[in-house]
Amino acid sequence: MSSDVTTGQGGRPSREELDAMSPEELARLAGDLDDVEVVHNTPQYPIEGTRAEKRAERSVALWFAISALSGLAFVVAFIAWPWEYVNVGEPGHEIYSLYTPVVGLTFGLSILALGIAVVQAVKKLFPAEVSVQQRHDGPSDDVDRRTILAQLADTGQKTTLGRRKLIQRTAGLAAGVLGIGTGVIALGGIIRDPWAAGEDAPLWHTGWRPENGETVYLRSDTGIVGEIARVRPEDMEPGSMMTVFPFRESERGNEEELLHAQRASDAPVMLIRLRPGTEVTPRPGQENFNYGDFYAWSKVCTHLGCPTSLYQAQDNRILCPCHQSQFLATEDAEPVFGPAARPLPQLPIRVNEEGYFVAESDFVEPVGPAFWERPKTT
Ligand code: FES
Repeated sequence: MSSDVTTGQGGRPSREELDAMSPEELARLAGDLDDVEVVHNTPQYPIEGTRAEKRAERSVALWFAISALSGLAFVVAFIAWPWEYVNVGEPGHEIYSLYTPVVGLTFGLSILALGIAVVQAVKKLFPAEVSVQQRHDGPSDDVDRRTILAQLADTGQKTTLGRRKLIQRTAGLAAGVLGIGTGVIALGGIIRDPWAAGEDAPLWHTGWRPENGETVYLRSDTGIVGEIARVRPEDMEPGSMMTVFPFRESERGNEEELLHAQRASDAPVMLIRLRPGTEVTPRPGQENFNYGDFYAWSKVCTHLGCPTSLYQAQDNRILCPCHQSQFLATEDAEPVFGPAARPLPQLPIRVNEEGYFVAESDFVEPVGPAFWERPKTT
């Protein structure tokens, strides 16, 4: 505490004088010390309890209540609305397609209603006041710091919010629900335990992992769910690229399994046939992952997960359209430009005795930016 507070020097009140003051006197003192002159202050409702005042109060409370209800609807929709992709024409597609609009509308309405409530409270309940303050340089001293709280409390009284329980409750409810909604957004991604399946947790492997010794073929997408197009070397021209997905014979005829294998976010792979004579520097331990001029790299960008589906045969660059990362095929898909920091993971492939491409194993490193995929659901 500085000396002017304890001694009352410089025309300022001493500590004892401050202690003896009422909150109203402290608030008035705060204005005086700040060189604030209240030119005009008229309460909106000089007589308490009029019908007009109650109407204004109910209107403000109504907006706070709308904000709270919308926030609650947002939390429920965010957690419970079916969010998993459903193909067009399949049962549940309409409900799924409404997920984003419902979540956006409820959250937006909650914030909008909160804003309207605050604006209405200021316009309809706060006193009309005009004050003039002289400008000063430098930091606040001890007296200023002590009186500011009293001034704020006094302002609270003058705005009449202190005695409006309905508005206090609805405002608290709206702010609380909105706060919970914001927390749900932040924590939503970790509500499910991605490690629940232990060694089989989907974050540890992709659909390319061979299971029960069954061969995993490279399959192209023809646009028809049940149509199986396994890929052979002669299907591709030199300097071309094809997107492939994992396929097992046990999935043949099972549309649900086929769709599941194709839609998994870590499944798409770029099968690239380099032009003859193109030299590639393999990464240590991955010297045999290719089949001649054929290389299979994950299509999921290691920056933020966009599909890196632009292959330029002239300079052997693989481009990600999202933030312009470039990966050099001749350096085993090392990033050479843009924000991506890791090479695209390479899938080990070979051609089996039938002449089809098959995966030798799963990827040997995480696909995409990191462990970001939600667990698959049953
Ligand atoms: S997601 Fe590919 S560069 Fe950002």
